[in-house]
Amino acid sequence: MALYSEKVMDHFRNPRNVGVIEDADGIGEAGNPVCGDIMKIYLKIENDIITDVKFETFGCGSAIASSSMATELIKGKPIKEAMALTNKAVTEALDGLPAHKLHCSVLAEEAIRLALRDYFDKNNIPYDPKDYPDPSCESCCHTH
Ligand code: FES
Repeated sequence: MALYSEKVMDHFRNPRNVGVIEDADGIGEAGNPVCGDIMKIYLKIENDIITDVKFETFGCGSAIASSSMATELIKGKPIKEAMALTNKAVTEALDGLPAHKLHCSVLAEEAIRLALRDYFDKNNIPYDPKDYPDPSCESCCHTH
């Protein structure tokens, strides 16, 4: 069996939603201190719906495929659904990642949550951190 699924290769070769949203409503950046890869997510939000999302990923192929798939999964969705997106869901949507590459998908989950928190903070929208717990990946860090 190939190491990477066709979906991973497709999203790596033709990533969706690459770029920057200049007037983003929320921006989140997550990095992994071990490999040094960084992912940045930009969100446009209207009436609690993610109307647009873009990403910049300086990282490995799995991180690029994960960002691409994650943006597809949350585009057009309510905030609550985007906040609940897990790296497991991203990995499943990609038809799996090799075990040693699972941490790459965690960056997508983290960056999206941080972008949403940024949106909440900028708009003084209260949220209960309990409802949005940090992912518990020891190899990952928040950059803000
Ligand atoms: Fe760093 Fe994939 S090896 S995110």
